[in-house]
This record gives sequence, structure tokens and C-alpha cells, in this order.
Amino acid sequence: MRTQVAIIGAGPAGLLLGQLLSRAGIDNVILERRSLDYVLSRIRAGVLEQGMVDLLHEAGVSDRLEREGLVHDGFSLAYHGALHRIDLKGLTGGRTVTVYGQTEVTRDLVEARHALDRPTIYEAQDVALHDIDGTSPRLTFTKDGKAHELTCDFIAGCDGYHGISRASLPETALQIFERVYPFGWLGLLVDRPPASHELVYAGHERGFALCSMRSAERSRYYIQVPLEERVEDWSDEAFFDELRQRLPAEVAEAVVTGPSIEKSIAPLRSFVAEPLRFGRLFLAGDAAHIVPPTGAKGLNLAASDVRYLFDALREHYRDHSDAGLDSYSARALARVWKAERFSWWMTNLLHRFPERDGFDGRIQETEFAYLTQSRAACTALAENYVGLPY
Ligand code: APR
Ligand code: PHB
Repeated sequence: MRTQVAIIGAGPAGLLLGQLLSRAGIDNVILERRSLDYVLSRIRAGVLEQGMVDLLHEAGVSDRLEREGLVHDGFSLAYHGALHRIDLKGLTGGRTVTVYGQTEVTRDLVEARHALDRPTIYEAQDVALHDIDGTSPRLTFTKDGKAHELTCDFIAGCDGYHGISRASLPETALQIFERVYPFGWLGLLVDRPPASHELVYAGHERGFALCSMRSAERSRYYIQVPLEERVEDWSDEAFFDELRQRLPAEVAEAVVTGPSIEKSIAPLRSFVAEPLRFGRLFLAGDAAHIVPPTGAKGLNLAASDVRYLFDALREHYRDHSDAGLDSYSARALARVWKAERFSWWMTNLLHRFPERDGFDGRIQETEFAYLTQSRAACTALAENYVGLPY
């Protein structure tokens, strides 16, 4: 088998890159370790920057997003019971974010790929990369017990944090930057209207809490929990009880409880592997970097990587220039690091760190007080939240 761009991973990064390439007439094949059902059952974040919405539009997959996505002009921060609204639209000259689940983005991309009749090989096992330093790299894999080989011009490693692309590089080739946080997020999805029509991010003595949503009828809530916690030990009732205690009274009273349709714990991590290019292999999305979910940047960073990588590949095939490929890593990383900084900052602002001392506590309180008093501080938060320019 031969293609122009071999993509590893059918998450949002791989599918979006595939869609943009296909529409530009660039042949591509996606290899995915999991089944289609598994890929479509993962519940992940759901706040899209305008840049990502525009890219989905360019990729021809924005019809349902435009119909069902909820445009949010702002969100609220809560700290020890006080509420403070961040007017995203007013502070950024009219920019907003769109609430639309990553699972829905993935579904739209899968359907679009199906309509274009482009190949995705699900349940591709033992994917291995070969000759990434040469002009004709190859991927080998097994499917239904049979060995296959895919030869290509370029490999896009879009296979997430636990993928094979980054893992198959020699350790000396990579520089790793990492921060592991001493807590996780316990998330719960419920078919009940959201407590507030906008997101509420709450910092509290008992720990962080977030009120989010997927639609006017479906809510997504999170609470910070110690890393050792097990999801089986959290009944829905205990979850809602803890959530309410961390929210300002007016928000807590508006929480509508119901049976969870999904509940899971995710650890929090900041991670960047540099560079993003090795010969003919290009890393994009979670394969190269992770942010803690505070600030909702993970999915949006996957989209900005894909923006740069798609432009670079199109330049290669259409304009016979490798300038974009040569600068991909530096361009993408510059934006990645700004989102890393922002996600780290917002995580520090709102979480209860177990090792926190009195000084840390005062700094956190003061950071919040400063936000409530300074338009400049809010503007800095808002311009990062809506997404820095590509
Ligand atoms: N071979 C083939 N596919 C693989 C392999 C492998 N060895 N390892 C992982 N994959 C697949 C995974 O099964 C998954 O479907 O790669 C895909 C990676 O998808 P994601 O983890 O969703 O990563 P990405 O596409 O970069 O999406 C951006 O940002 O913060 C996050 O939640 C957000 O998942 C989202 C991500
Ligand atoms: C979500 O809705 O899942 C969500 C929203 C905002 C975040 C993180 C997750 O910052």
C-alpha cells in the first residue's frame, strides 16, 4: 500500500488533518489502534476557540457545529463563594468560544471522511515506524492477524499521549518538559440542564470544581480529587454533594441532579516534547504535548498544530516549497508554550495543592482579588481563554 501522508491516530488531530488533506487533493491513510465505536465513545472536553471553529468550517465539517454549538460570551470564576464574570466578548473586542463536545467533533469528522470515501484502518495493531530519516518512510502493522505495510512521503504522528510515534524515537532525540499535578479531575455527565448558562470555574478550600455543559439539556461537572481516589467509590449523590459544597450558594442551588451517564477520573499533567519534527515524522496534538484541562486548551492546541501542519504539507505538494515543513516545529511550539503557560497558571489559580503553605494561599487569594479589580488582568485571562492568534 502507498499513500502521500500516513496518519497515525483517528482522534481529532488525525481526523482533522486527514479531512483538510483530502479536500486539498492530498492522499492520506489513517491507522487507528482502537475500534470506531471506542473512538466515538470517549468523553472529552468541549470548548472550542474561534480559530478551531474556523478551521472546522474550512474543513467542511461545521454544519452541525453551527446548528448545535453554544456560543458563549463569557464565563464565571468563583472563589470562596464570590462570583466574578469574565466578559470574554467585551474584553477581547467581540471574540467568543463555542461549547461543542469533542465527541461530536470526532463524529462529524468520521462522517465527513466516510462521505469522501477515504481509508481509515481501525483496529490496526502493532503499528511500527521505519525509515523516518529517508525519503520513503514506511509503517508496518497487523490487521486481523495479517501483516501490512504502508509506504508514504510523510508520517503524521497524531496518536495521542500514549501513542507509538513519540515512543519510537530515541530518548536522546527529545527534550521533555513536564509537570505532574498531585490531583485529578473526577468528571460526571448528566442529562439535566446546566446549573448556569455559562461555565463556572470554582476555587474553594475543599478543592476545585467546574460547571460545564454539552447542551441546554446535558451538563458536565468536575471536582478536583486526590490521585488515589477511585471512581467506584464515588456515588452520584456523593459527587453532587461535594460539588455543591464548592460552589457559591446561588450556583449550588441551581445544580439539577440526576443519574450519571458517564463518570471518570483524569490525572492532570503539563507535558511538552521538543521538537515536533524528526526527518519525515511530524508530531501533532496530544502526541507531543498535554495541558491540564483548566482553560480547555488541549483540543484547541491539537487544532492549531493541524493548521500549521496542513498548511506546510499543502505548500510542499502544491507550491513545491518545504519552508512550512522546516518551520513547523518552531511555529507550533511557540503557540503550544503560550497555552502551556496559561493552563498552568489557571490550574494554580483555582486548585487546592496538598503541599500549599500560608504564603501560597495568600498569593492565590490575591491573584483572584486582582482579577476582580483589574480590567487589564481580566483582559489577559480573556485573550488567552478565547485563544491566541494562529
Ligand atoms: N497506533 C494507532 N493508533 C494509536 C496508537 C497506535 N500505537 N496509539 C494511540 N492511537 C490512537 C488512539 O487510540 C486515539 O484514537 O491515536 C488517537 C489519539 O487521539 P487523542 O488521544 O484524542 O489525541 P489528539 O487527536 O491529539 O486529540 C487532542 O487534546 O486534550 C486533548 O481531550 C483532548 O483528546 C484530545 C486531544
Ligand atoms: C468540559 O466541558 O468538559 C470542559 C470545559 C472546560 C474546561 C475543561 C473541560 O476547562
